[in-house]
Amino acid sequence: MIILKRFYFRPIFYHYRTNTTTTTTKTKLNTFNIEYDPIKQSIIYPQELNLNNKNYSTDSWTNVNENILSRIGLNLHQQKNHPLYHLTNRLRKYFYQFYDQKKLSPKFSIIDNLSPIVTTEQNFDSICIPINHVSRTKSMNYYINQNTLLRAHTSAHQVDLIRSGLNAFLCIGDVYRRDDIDPTHYPVFHQCEGVQLFTKEELFIGNKNVLGDKDNLEIFGPNEQRDATKQEGHTLEAVKLVEASLKKTITDLFKTLLPNTSILNSRWVDTTFPFTHPSWEYEIEIDGKWYELLGCGIMEHRVLENSGLNKDHIGWAFGLGLERIAMIMYGIPDIRLFWTNDSGFLSQFVFDDSTHSIQYKPISIYPQCINDLSMWMGKTKIDPSDFYDLVRAIGGDLIEQVILIDEFYNPKNQRYSQTYRIIYRSMDRTLTKNEINMIHKDIEYHCKQQFGVEIR
Ligand code: DAH
Repeated sequence: MIILKRFYFRPIFYHYRTNTTTTTTKTKLNTFNIEYDPIKQSIIYPQELNLNNKNYSTDSWTNVNENILSRIGLNLHQQKNHPLYHLTNRLRKYFYQFYDQKKLSPKFSIIDNLSPIVTTEQNFDSICIPINHVSRTKSMNYYINQNTLLRAHTSAHQVDLIRSGLNAFLCIGDVYRRDDIDPTHYPVFHQCEGVQLFTKEELFIGNKNVLGDKDNLEIFGPNEQRDATKQEGHTLEAVKLVEASLKKTITDLFKTLLPNTSILNSRWVDTTFPFTHPSWEYEIEIDGKWYELLGCGIMEHRVLENSGLNKDHIGWAFGLGLERIAMIMYGIPDIRLFWTNDSGFLSQFVFDDSTHSIQYKPISIYPQCINDLSMWMGKTKIDPSDFYDLVRAIGGDLIEQVILIDEFYNPKNQRYSQTYRIIYRSMDRTLTKNEINMIHKDIEYHCKQQFGVEIR
């Protein structure tokens, strides 16, 4: 078994399409000075790529492209009211409830702003991914050069974060993998990594109610062998307690994220990852289909050693994909929608309380048409809900959204001004400019009649 296994059998043809394959001049594609040579049919990289204000030399491993590089820094999970922002808030809220009585602060630190540009050491070596492992290949990753790539998973930061002194954290961010684009796969997506470490005291004293007063319990024992249930060195009692903590944390998390309606059944499936042993996948059943939500396990002790810890800690880790969970949570049918700027999509997620539960309503495939309407009124302004009602009464289902975009008071003539943006869109055809103008004029007319306003 491998990590990143969804790539395994997907052939990937790395080509760059341009409209002008017949021309013999090199076409400059973008701001990163990456060029396409139509004769050699290959991409020519500059000697250095400037990313996040740092120069990276390119080499025979370089295989990033303009489209991928342009995603760096977009951080959808930090964009207010984006579905991934709401999910991130919900993860934050769930994990902040665990309190550390000694530190007098939440147990888990939440790190969501680390650069996705990492070294091969971080992405692979630090977490014990073998040197010839298939997940390292050029065909699965976006390399900037031989030693630098766009992280393929948030596990790339485990060791650095533990080294920085954290013993319980989430790490959330964008990850990059070469892949086809289809309704459930996209070459950039978002992950949340979770890690919790335990000392002997935390593990055994915290579980005194289960264990009774045994005071000879240890995390490590001299003659412990590696087998299906544990790593060499680990005692079975320590592993079982960490496993119980991990599984409870995850099951409770999904009970909160996907309350009763959607989860009928869930199961733990044994699996293998280079950085955990034993390892599991957590799956849930919805409408008779099983969905894999995350991978997790007991951290390989060598990962903790790489983080500078001795034989005094044991820990669990998990990694989950945000898009997949948000798709289930909100009923979003296509992963590409997370990248849309279409306000028909985004406006459905405008709410302050991220725990608010909604089901996404499919937007039309036909284009939007936007018309603004500005008007002067008297000393009392129009209640926006009255305006919305009027617009809907006239435009019916062709109205997708109405937004009050500007309002001010002019003290000189003692009048209010309001500007509304009306977004028209049909579910079954492209609207003509003419058709919309007629509806818009009708709205203006009725506005004058009903509210006595002056159209500006
Ligand atoms: N890094 C894995 C991936 O991207 C997911 C994962 C599995 C993360 C197990 C973990 C873990 O921390 O323990 O496929």
